[in-house]
Amino acid sequence: GRGAAPVKAPEVDPVAEAGKLASGAADLGALRDALAGYEHCPLKRGARNLVFADGVAGARVMLVGEAPGRDEDLQGKPFVGRAGQLLDRMLAAVGLSRAESVYITNVLPWRPPQNRDPKPDEIAMLLPFLHRHIALADPDLLVIMGNTSCQALLGRRGITRLRGTWVEAAERPALPMLHPAYLLRNPQAKREAWADMLSLKAKLRALE
Ligand code: URA
Repeated sequence: GRGAAPVKAPEVDPVAEAGKLASGAADLGALRDALAGYEHCPLKRGARNLVFADGVAGARVMLVGEAPGRDEDLQGKPFVGRAGQLLDRMLAAVGLSRAESVYITNVLPWRPPQNRDPKPDEIAMLLPFLHRHIALADPDLLVIMGNTSCQALLGRRGITRLRGTWVEAAERPALPMLHPAYLLRNPQAKREAWADMLSLKAKLRALE
């Protein structure tokens, strides 16, 4: 008959597409725009806002969290809820702040529904953006908070074993640390978090 066979949409590889967009971004503003225009991640559809970053772009310390929660999704900024307030207090204890000396982002720029764990394919397609984000912000040091972030940047889970030991990630020294949301649920673990903050401060001094 005359009916044409249904035209199949060309297959796009979301990871390759992300890589192309990310590497084409010449600065942080362009990277943010590229993420905002990236349509292959299902998380985007359920989120209210893109949560890109907060703090000082170009700071010596860059913190990488997991994913926006409810407050972050509403405000479009990372770490503004309870975990974020705890994080700010921990940073302040060693003389750091997002107003002056740290830059903050997450592995995922969109809130997962009901705060569920991100799926491996979601992490995989957002990873090129994260790597470009780190390269453009170019911090001296990374702090990797929580299991999702360790999985994404180190390819390993087990934050309670990984924390506190400097490793390399994205071509620079990186410190895995307990996530502040974990510290809210397990206040006894604040000892370890305090040790990690001191280790961060010492590393900054050593590299000065
Ligand atoms: N937890 C995260 O990992 N990131 C945020 O932005 C808020 C809470």
